[in-house]
Amino acid sequence: MFDYKGKVAFITGGASGAGFGQAVVFAEAGCKIVIADVRPAAISEATAKLRARGVEVHGIQLDVTDRAAYARAADEVERVFGKPPELLFNTAGVNAFGPVEKSTYDDFDWLMGVNFGGVVNGMVTFVPRMIAAGRGGYILTTSSMGGFSGSAAASIYSAAKAAVINLMESYRIALAKYQIAVSVLCPANIRTNIAEATRLRPAHLGNTGYIVNEDVIESLRRIHAHGLDPVELARRTKEAMEAGQLYIIPYPEEKDALTKHFKQIVDSVMPMEADPEGARKRSEALQNWFKERQSLMSKGKNDP
Ligand code: NAI
Repeated sequence: MFDYKGKVAFITGGASGAGFGQAVVFAEAGCKIVIADVRPAAISEATAKLRARGVEVHGIQLDVTDRAAYARAADEVERVFGKPPELLFNTAGVNAFGPVEKSTYDDFDWLMGVNFGGVVNGMVTFVPRMIAAGRGGYILTTSSMGGFSGSAAASIYSAAKAAVINLMESYRIALAKYQIAVSVLCPANIRTNIAEATRLRPAHLGNTGYIVNEDVIESLRRIHAHGLDPVELARRTKEAMEAGQLYIIPYPEEKDALTKHFKQIVDSVMPMEADPEGARKRSEALQNWFKERQSLMSKGKNDP
């Protein structure tokens, strides 16, 4: 489905950075755009910029962690455009850095809540509506290179992004039969406003174990000033989506680090010489169980 004309694209975090880049690029391709973001002033600014380019755009204030608000946002899209979106971009995200051993429950709840919970809410809200509409579609979730490996300083963010990658692998398999494609974007540095993310932290999750001050924000700003341009990132992402890629990683400089990381995992598989017959049986039993489940699920029976 690469005829974008008249398709509705729902973009969380669409008022800034990577999400706004996606709005520009997919609007150019012919989509109608929904900017769903937690910051009303940024939504007004983003929608005004898009309108000035002749884009049909609708803004919705949404905190992706709020499930009831998410359902209302989905209803609003159907009211405004007469259908659920064909394209869902789970792009909203926040970060915070600090020693993992000092992390508080609030650090976990905020970072997992937005970066993983927000994606879960997007999928649970929209996937059944997209399936029921029967028009196929595309779901792009923005994870991060951070999702491929642990990090002492970005631990919770990385864990959330790892969960997102894994979840998208599952949805990709499951949704193929509905002609809904799924990809996961794993960027390294992007030139965005994510350095400011800490300002969006809700007061009720305010107890942090990390140092958060203007110097930290300024040092992050300096890093992101060297990031990939969000529109350029969205263009490369669109090409990769059209090429049918599950993982989208438009950062060639990351290849060596990724290779090293996955080699370490593959090299950790121990040779099974003591009981090859046992290994064969274990593997066969698992495969048979999955085949049975698959067959039951395709008959609409979810329980074994
Ligand atoms: P950004 O800060 O420029 O844009 C993020 C947008 O998400 C903002 O408009 C913000 O208001 C919105 N947002 C934050 N919390 C929200 C919530 N609870 N509900 C709804 N909207 C919310 O940042 P950026 O970089 O464009 O972030 C987009 C995605 O890219 C995120 O998922 C981020 O983790 C990911 N990413 C960013 C990288 C970077 O270097 N900037 C690198 C790798 C991944």
